[in-house]
Amino acid sequence: MSSKCSSHSNPIFRSHPMASLLVAPPFNFAFRSVVFLVIIWIGLFCIVEISAGGDVGEVLGKGGHKQREFDYFKLSLQWPGTVCHRTRHCCSSNGCCRGSNAPTGFTIHGLWPDYNDGTWPACCNGKRFDVKEISTLLGALNKFWPSLSCSSPSNCHGGKGLFWEHEWEKHGTCASSVVGDEYKYFLTTLNIYFKYNITEVLREAGYVASNSEKYPLGGIISAIQNAFHTTPELECSGDAVEELRLCFDKNFKPRDCAVDSNTESGIVTSKKSCPRYVSLPDYVSLNVGKNDAEVSQATVHSSI
Ligand SMILES: *[C@@H]1O[C@H](CO)[C@@H](O)[C@H](O)[C@H]1NC(C)=O
Repeated sequence: MSSKCSSHSNPIFRSHPMASLLVAPPFNFAFRSVVFLVIIWIGLFCIVEISAGGDVGEVLGKGGHKQREFDYFKLSLQWPGTVCHRTRHCCSSNGCCRGSNAPTGFTIHGLWPDYNDGTWPACCNGKRFDVKEISTLLGALNKFWPSLSCSSPSNCHGGKGLFWEHEWEKHGTCASSVVGDEYKYFLTTLNIYFKYNITEVLREAGYVASNSEKYPLGGIISAIQNAFHTTPELECSGDAVEELRLCFDKNFKPRDCAVDSNTESGIVTSKKSCPRYVSLPDYVSLNVGKNDAEVSQATVHSSI
């Protein structure tokens, strides 16, 4: 309710030749009322559909499980330079498409509660995602926790939604014994990400984004071991680093990730495991438009 509405009472706008058309009574008014009612009706229909979908999800056991207490946290980071190379088309919600504002260092994928046996809980009891709960964090989340695709991931209730919704409902709800509610889940994750700046540790060791350099995997791992006294998990796409994961105990002290999680699903892991020499690709951003940061903010707000 700001610039658009107030422009109706703007004298410059009213004196425009088209202004009389835009405020033409009474047919226009009646027509608008009908359109308005239709929109409301469609809206109500959608709400009913969504809640019905939620119920079906529960019956099928997709959401709201009570699961056993987890053992440790895994902070999962993405290397945008690798993920964004898969971008085939752009949209405002895709962090890869922000032109010169596109992320250059590791961004957050999620904070995941895990078990020591290499498995993890998912979709636990908890409140549904509500973007209003994290409205004060949206600036930081857009910057450091962007979605790197245009598709909407699944939530735990048979629907699809924001990347953040997926992370909170699938993983965050299972960590609530330690981190608390949705707002605290996102705040906690941002804080750990700020405290353990992998991009900086690698940069100081000479490992910077490049489309020509190859770096020894062992060198990357020991730079992180020296800085944080823990061994990270890495996943690659070809020789390009795609994900890097740091593990923490429930007091947020760094610890090693469960050994089993490397061997648990042999096929998937071997496909994603990194070779001895890896790259940290640079990404030349596709551009969706001029004011990308504003566009992505607008997307978030319109999805409330
Ligand atoms: C991490 O370090 C990099 C490189 O020094 C810096 O550009 C970035 O802003 C830092 N990230 C955070 C979240 O502080």
